[in-house]
Amino acid sequence: MVLIAVPKETALGERRVALTPEVVGRLVKEGWGVRLEVGAGLQAYFSDEAYRSAGAEVVPRDQLFQGAQVVFTVQPLERVDLERLEPGTVVAGLMYPHRDPARVQAMASRQISALAMELVPRITRAQSMDVLSSQATVAGYVAALIAARESSRFFPMLTTAAGTIRPAKVMVMGVGVAGLQAIATARRLGANVWAYDVRKAAAEQALSLGARVIELPISAEGEGGYARELTEEEKKIQHEALAKEVGGMDAVITTAQIPGRRAPILITQDMVARMSPGAVIVDLAAESGGNCELTKPGETLELNGVKIVGPLNLPSALSVHASEMYAKNLYNLSKLLIKDGQLAPDWSDEILAGALLTHQGEITHAPTRALVGGA
Ligand code: NAI
Repeated sequence: MVLIAVPKETALGERRVALTPEVVGRLVKEGWGVRLEVGAGLQAYFSDEAYRSAGAEVVPRDQLFQGAQVVFTVQPLERVDLERLEPGTVVAGLMYPHRDPARVQAMASRQISALAMELVPRITRAQSMDVLSSQATVAGYVAALIAARESSRFFPMLTTAAGTIRPAKVMVMGVGVAGLQAIATARRLGANVWAYDVRKAAAEQALSLGARVIELPISAEGEGGYARELTEEEKKIQHEALAKEVGGMDAVITTAQIPGRRAPILITQDMVARMSPGAVIVDLAAESGGNCELTKPGETLELNGVKIVGPLNLPSALSVHASEMYAKNLYNLSKLLIKDGQLAPDWSDEILAGALLTHQGEITHAPTRALVGGA
């Protein structure tokens, strides 16, 4: 029986857990063994008892990894845990290789087969394993709620005896998975929403959710459906056009990312200065440098009455559903790891090959190898 171990997450502010009792039940039925650390699901409100009822063992951390051939995590494992794993163990979770290249080297040295869930290729067959999408959906929703909560104005139009309130004007910049969910949520709250992205394909999706689209003469489709970095000329056009629009907004939610790079700056200090007091910016790109020049990751600051929120790890704010979605992603991945009850991943499968960070002592992901080489 192949055993999956799931630790309690230790990263600061992390409330998610890699497997939920429901998914444990399915895995056990399919012949896997599952073992969780005591309290692994508590921050997402899944009790040890619920895991036991689903067929899992629940043990203290020092017994967790014994005999485990697979480890599922949300955040990367700590260095001390890597020492406890047998060579050949498959570890699947978010890996953030650029944040700690030395840890990647340590995983390679320990002969761990590390699957970085954020590197799962975004092909149709892998959609059900796409943690970037599942977690960005949560982040986009929470971002719109934060914008509404921090705003000094209603989002919906209200007609009351005390007068008529006009709907809030909300702009969403960066219309990927998180941006689309932010648009949908802000619309449900009754705001008028404007959307901006450098990919033309995003415009159509934003329109279908009831947003108005800010169109600029820029088309920056990069590889794999992602955006590329803008040229200096394009950045100038973007800045001039957005500066006009942002000034009139009650709330701006930014989600723009360029793979492997610092997030692009979309809102400069002068643009913030033109916004009305009481307006709010929620910068979802805070973790990768921020889309607003003034964002401080993990903090909320106020400049001339404009709040700039730089939230970290938003999926953790909705730990129940974020964990449920993440666990389903891992469950779907698990099908690629096992054959006839044995651990038998086909490492040449496009999905596993794309996500594989370290294997048999090597760093298999070329950009990470270059990063570690240069570290
Ligand atoms: P992301 O998190 O990398 O970036 C968010 C958004 O920021 C993107 O829409 C990007 O175009 C935009 N952006 C970048 N630079 C910008 C700038 N200067 N100004 C304004 N916006 C800027 O993107 P995410 O959410 O991961 O989605 C990326 C793509 O992958 C999308 O095309 C999405 O439809 C596609 N996708 C495909 C999937 C599949 O087929 N399995 C699953 C999920 C997403």
